[in-house]
Amino acid sequence: MRPRRADRRRAHERRGLLATAAGVAGVLLLASLYLMLLGRPPAATDTVGGPFRLAASDGRTVTDRSFPGRYMLIYFGYSHCRDVCPTTLAALAAALDAMGTRADRVQPLFVTVDPQRDSPAALDRYVADFTPRLLGLTGTPAQIRAMEREYRVRSTAHRPAAGDYDIEHSSVLYLMAPDGTFLAPIRADESAAAMASDIERQLS
Ligand code: NI
Repeated sequence: MRPRRADRRRAHERRGLLATAAGVAGVLLLASLYLMLLGRPPAATDTVGGPFRLAASDGRTVTDRSFPGRYMLIYFGYSHCRDVCPTTLAALAAALDAMGTRADRVQPLFVTVDPQRDSPAALDRYVADFTPRLLGLTGTPAQIRAMEREYRVRSTAHRPAAGDYDIEHSSVLYLMAPDGTFLAPIRADESAAAMASDIERQLS
C-alpha cells in the first residue's frame, strides 16, 4: 500500500506542478498581451526608462542622450501643483546644494505631466524658483504620455466643469545611470539631507 500511496502523491504533485506551470504560462501570456496592448514590446524592455525627446525650459531640445557621462534625476509633476511638487523640488534643490561639487554629476529634470499648461517658457519661470540646475521638460500630450508609460508614471487630471484643474500624479525621483539605465528610485517625501545621502549612495 505504501508505494502506491507514494505514487499517487507523486502523481498529485506532478499535477500540481503542471497546474502551477500552466498558471504561470497563462499569467505571462496575459502580461505580454497587456504590454502589446500598451504599445510596447513584451520582451526584455520591460524596465523603467527609455528614450525621449522633449522641449526644455532653456529653449533646447533635450533627449536621453543629452547629458553624456552624467546621471539624470527625473521627477514628473506640473507647475500648477500646489503641494507635492513644490515641496519635492525644494528638497531636491537643497539636496543637490548639500552635495557640493558631486551634484555636478547629476542633471535634475522636471518632466511635466501637464503639457497643455506647461510650455517651455512657463516651465522656465517655474524651475527658476528652485535651482538653476533644474531643467523643465515638456512636449506634445502624446510625447508626455509615452514617457509616462516608459517610467511607469501615473497621472490623472481632475477636471471640474469650470475653472482650474488638478492632476494627481505619482511622486518618485528616478535616478538614471550615465548609460541611461534605471539605477534606483529616490524617495520624494524625505528631507533634503536624506535625499542627498540616498543619491550619493548610488553614485559610483
Ligand atoms: Ni505635483
